[in-house]
Amino acid sequence: MPTPTCETTGSAARHFPRRISLPTLAKAAQKCRGCSLYCHATHVVFGEGSRTAKLLLVGEQPGDQEDRAGQPFVGPSGRLLDETLLAAGIERSTVYVTNAVKHFKWKPSPTGKRRLHSKPNWTEIAACRPWLLEELKLVAPPLLMTLGATAAQSLLGKSFKLTQHRHEFLIPELPVHLPSPPLLLATVHPSSLLRMPDKAARDAARKEFLKDFQLVAKKLASL
Ligand code: URA
Ligand code: SF4
Repeated sequence: MPTPTCETTGSAARHFPRRISLPTLAKAAQKCRGCSLYCHATHVVFGEGSRTAKLLLVGEQPGDQEDRAGQPFVGPSGRLLDETLLAAGIERSTVYVTNAVKHFKWKPSPTGKRRLHSKPNWTEIAACRPWLLEELKLVAPPLLMTLGATAAQSLLGKSFKLTQHRHEFLIPELPVHLPSPPLLLATVHPSSLLRMPDKAARDAARKEFLKDFQLVAKKLASL
């Protein structure tokens, strides 16, 4: 719940700069009060990467380390993502990496010593979506990958079920008009793999995750 000093405006769009570009948006996002998540985070974490990237990756929200660094995917999930990109032969320079929600949502651990990830709710996802849609318009990539349910649902709607579309390229109806509509492949979030306690299940899930990146690599090579 927002505290009395934590005022919100209801939408990231209320904080857009007059002149829209990736750097001006990234700067404006630092002052975003679209939802209450800015009140308890250290940094806003805007997307990063090439403006002409052929592949845009959308995660859920920054984690503890991303919040401290102000950069996306620099913690444990980021390391797994980097390993997987490398294994699939995808150059990091061909990728733009961002998140559905730009501030870290967390709750204190039972001992109060650590900040534990807390899933963003629909209000927060919707409030933050305007940043993501502008990134999509400006980068306009031919390929789009969503990591996990939050990213997929932010772009494809609440009823999207990843299990029904595994390893599939979709032609999504995005909530934004792009001159050439991208293909979208929805995959799982790397943190879901890191959390699996059973080694055999984790190895199998990693294989499926890598398969998605290999499919994307093949598509990138055919562009
Ligand atoms: N998880 C995400 O979804 N995004 C990040 O930037 C880091 C972890
Ligand atoms: Fe703004 Fe998004 Fe941060 Fe909410 S999470 S304050 S909408 S940047």
